[in-house]
Amino acid sequence: MKSNLSSVKSNPGSNDGIQIGWNAPANIALIKYWGKHGNQLPDNASLSISLDKTSTTTFLSLQKKNGSPNDITLEYFFHGEKFEKFEHKIAQFLTTLTPEMPFLLDYGLSFQSTNNFPHSAGIASSASSMAAIALCLVSIEELITGNARTKEEYFRRASCIARLGSGSASRSVYGGLVSWGNSPVLPLSSDQFASRFTLHSESRLHRVRDIILIVSSSEKKLSSRDGHSLMRSHPYRKGRKIQVANNLKALTEAIAIDNYREIAAISENEALSLHALLMTSQADGLLLQPDTLHIIREIRQFRESSGLDLFFTIDAGPNVHLIHYEDQQEQVLAFVKKKLLPYCENGQYLDDQSGEGPKLVINQFND
Ligand code: PMV
Repeated sequence: MKSNLSSVKSNPGSNDGIQIGWNAPANIALIKYWGKHGNQLPDNASLSISLDKTSTTTFLSLQKKNGSPNDITLEYFFHGEKFEKFEHKIAQFLTTLTPEMPFLLDYGLSFQSTNNFPHSAGIASSASSMAAIALCLVSIEELITGNARTKEEYFRRASCIARLGSGSASRSVYGGLVSWGNSPVLPLSSDQFASRFTLHSESRLHRVRDIILIVSSSEKKLSSRDGHSLMRSHPYRKGRKIQVANNLKALTEAIAIDNYREIAAISENEALSLHALLMTSQADGLLLQPDTLHIIREIRQFRESSGLDLFFTIDAGPNVHLIHYEDQQEQVLAFVKKKLLPYCENGQYLDDQSGEGPKLVINQFND
């Protein structure tokens, strides 16, 4: 692929109207990124699965400003309504980008964003939102500077920009399994940007299913920003670095030889380690709910009795991701309906799977 320039709508006659839209997926980490330093650099490498349906679509339109520009001018709409809290956050983020994207000061920017999962589900959307924004910005950058990148350079640049907005967003610019962060077990890995993780052709991980069990849709009481900073003085900081490096190495080895029991064991260990770190930090990091623990116990019991390869992982919140494989989908869904939905808030769950990655979308709001 060359650039996305042909898909960016522009009006060269008046040199003022430019529009672009991208859909970017949420992702769920099996190896968790927790703790950061410098300019949004991770304390450890992570590995995640990009989802399919759980995603954000963002349209960005730009209008040339009159007069001399000296700060970012933007509006941000979420499901058609002005979303001031996020608008403020994006304005700060874009201001930090102006040294490398000076054109941002020359235009009034309007973002129109939608999530295709219920806002009430309590699912973090910063990764998909920031990735969609970054993809739009890099497309616009190409148009304005006239510098078309190769496909690889384009997504790498988008990953770097997304990372500056939210670390885990760096992984949402790719589909399938994605790693981010320097590690001796990940060839060509970098702290600056994420990369696709290559699977062998027979791996069942090409088609992973994820049922997200909504235990609580309330807003998290600890932001991930605060959580990351708590790691700086965490008493288990050194131990975590050793543990996560070992887990990543063991996981890549287990994936290479299709050891699905080991993949399950390492992923569950990572989820519980993240929460152990949260619970033992200098803040109220108890984010798990009693129903989260009921669900974990049920999943483990069902795995033992059924012999299926399902496992759980959990983000920095109470909701549980039940990961399983396409060939066992029916049995797992029946188990979920019978045993797990009673622990979910209003019986809510999202039935998703691994996805192909972001998609360029045509402009739909201004035609
Ligand atoms: O991207 P952030 O800053 O919201 O951090 C997210 C970290 C976890 O979701 C808890 C783990 C991960 O690797 O996604």
